Amino acid sequence: MLVSRVSRLGACVFRDLMKGQSAFVQRPRYLHAFYRHFRTLRHRPFSSTAASEACKEGNNDKKLINVTFVDKDGEEKHIKVPVGMSMLEAAHENDIELEGACEGSLACSTCHVIVMDVDYYNKLEEPIDEENDMLDLAFGLTETSRLGCQVIAKPELDGIRLALPAATRNFAVDGYKPKPH
Ligand code: FES
Repeated sequence: MLVSRVSRLGACVFRDLMKGQSAFVQRPRYLHAFYRHFRTLRHRPFSSTAASEACKEGNNDKKLINVTFVDKDGEEKHIKVPVGMSMLEAAHENDIELEGACEGSLACSTCHVIVMDVDYYNKLEEPIDEENDMLDLAFGLTETSRLGCQVIAKPELDGIRLALPAATRNFAVDGYKPKPH
């Protein structure tokens, strides 16, 4: 766990270095990233094991929501996602090609998804500044774009449809150098 936390902090430092900012001047952002990470964990009581336990007990209707991913070719994949799980985790558990290079630490834009219905988009929490910063770097940004690692399943999102963009931009791999703001 500690190694994971440290690697996430490293990802945040890397992100700001790529944006030409001092890692030390921006220290509160990392504290914020840590806080957010722990808060996310607190709101994610269900693993896939927990989900299957819920199914066995027959009470999954209350705890699973229906989500549809639509890939760049228009192929749809319908999955059930436990309340509290991020769309990035749900995609990975269901072999959906949503990259998530930084594992949800808000240091990339490879988990970019497009909410297909604005009514569902309006039900999401407002993106925090770090998410907006990363969305600015996303390929094919739209008015209803979000980062999949920041979209957490909740009952109001039952039936949400998420489109996967035709491409993602991973500046660590592609050599893309974002300009400082
Ligand atoms: Fe990197 Fe979501 S996985 S920001």
